[in-house]
Amino acid sequence: MKYMGSKQWMLQNGLGTLLCAECENAERFVDLFAGSGAVACFVAKQVGLPVMASDLQEFSVILTEAIIARDKPLDADQIWRYWSKYALKLLPTKSMPNGGKFTQADVEGCRVWSNRQESWPVTRAYGGYYFSPKQTIWIDALRRSIPKEEPSRTVALAALINAASRCAASPGHTAQPFQPTRTGKRFLKEAWAKDIPKSTYQALEIIAPQFAINKGIALVADAITTAKKLRSGDVAFMDPPYSGVQYSRFYHVLETIAKGESGDVSGAGRYPVRSLRPQSKFSLKTSSLDALQQLLKTIAEKGAKAILTFPDHDCSNGLSGELIRTTAKEFFRVTIKTVDRKFSTLGGNAKLAKIGKGREARQMAKELILTLTPR
Ligand SMILES: C[S@@+](CC[C@H](N)C(=O)[O-])C[C@H]1O[C@@H](n2cnc3c(N)ncnc32)[C@H](O)[C@@H]1O
Repeated sequence: MKYMGSKQWMLQNGLGTLLCAECENAERFVDLFAGSGAVACFVAKQVGLPVMASDLQEFSVILTEAIIARDKPLDADQIWRYWSKYALKLLPTKSMPNGGKFTQADVEGCRVWSNRQESWPVTRAYGGYYFSPKQTIWIDALRRSIPKEEPSRTVALAALINAASRCAASPGHTAQPFQPTRTGKRFLKEAWAKDIPKSTYQALEIIAPQFAINKGIALVADAITTAKKLRSGDVAFMDPPYSGVQYSRFYHVLETIAKGESGDVSGAGRYPVRSLRPQSKFSLKTSSLDALQQLLKTIAEKGAKAILTFPDHDCSNGLSGELIRTTAKEFFRVTIKTVDRKFSTLGGNAKLAKIGKGREARQMAKELILTLTPR
């Protein structure tokens, strides 16, 4: 799964051990910014506490729920047999453009064809951009024939979201697709050659056997709303945004697949209208500090323990390691650990950085892990 800011690496490098220790005498683990679900799934599978996880974005909730809400493995082959059979029946029989020699005109032809496919939302919005027409038709067909029964439905949807993220013709996230330019053509061709059903099946094989020791729940909610449900005995986990750009700008393709609809899209990134993209106060310079204070105050009032991770430098949403430390100390007793890691600069580009025209996609930085104990 391509996900910026995933804590997967840190879980193997200090964070996992710390979480296990802090959860030892706890009753529940609550991940307030679930993202890829890496942390919530780690705790559900390895620590065994029931987990509640939430995020503003639906696709994140689906990825997380697919594992934390089950206490038994599922059979990927059984799900795939029926699912793929129904999807196959939905595929149109008429031929579709495939990108040809990837000239501007070839790719434009794919875009025009895709845009005419009124009843296939992913194709209409993203065909000829993040995916070839054939890939989007497959995504639409798989989305439409998703199993009806839970938990198979969520597991299948998570596999499709995972596959789309790995196949998308874009660098790491879906803010801008590769273009058929002299340099971009190669990447576009490579991405459009990826096999959606095969990638979906591969993701299903990975997700279906994973399950929680104790069943938990995942929901779409603002972190402050979820924090109001905390109680003493809970360990809350916070990995809030550090960018001044909304996460929904980078993940609208996955959100469209999660929801099964996109509405109208526009611009080079094919963004849905702003009202359909969740806006976070944590990603706005003018409100991030206020949101952080409100969140920490709520957790402290509920008497819950908390763990907070954040880059130890100034970030584009106006927060910084220093601000995080001082704000946390207003409400909690704080212990601090620092970890070296690579982090995503959200929108950086290694190639442009090399020729001095931008920042690197990933940079080395220190990450803080704060353990917050109620006073
Ligand atoms: C840094 S990422 C979390 C990454 C996650 N820990 C992982 O390992 O994948 C931040 C997440 O917070 C979510 N988010 C942003 N503002 C939020 C809010 N106000 N309430 C809940 N979630 C929010 C974003 O959608 C994004 O998924």
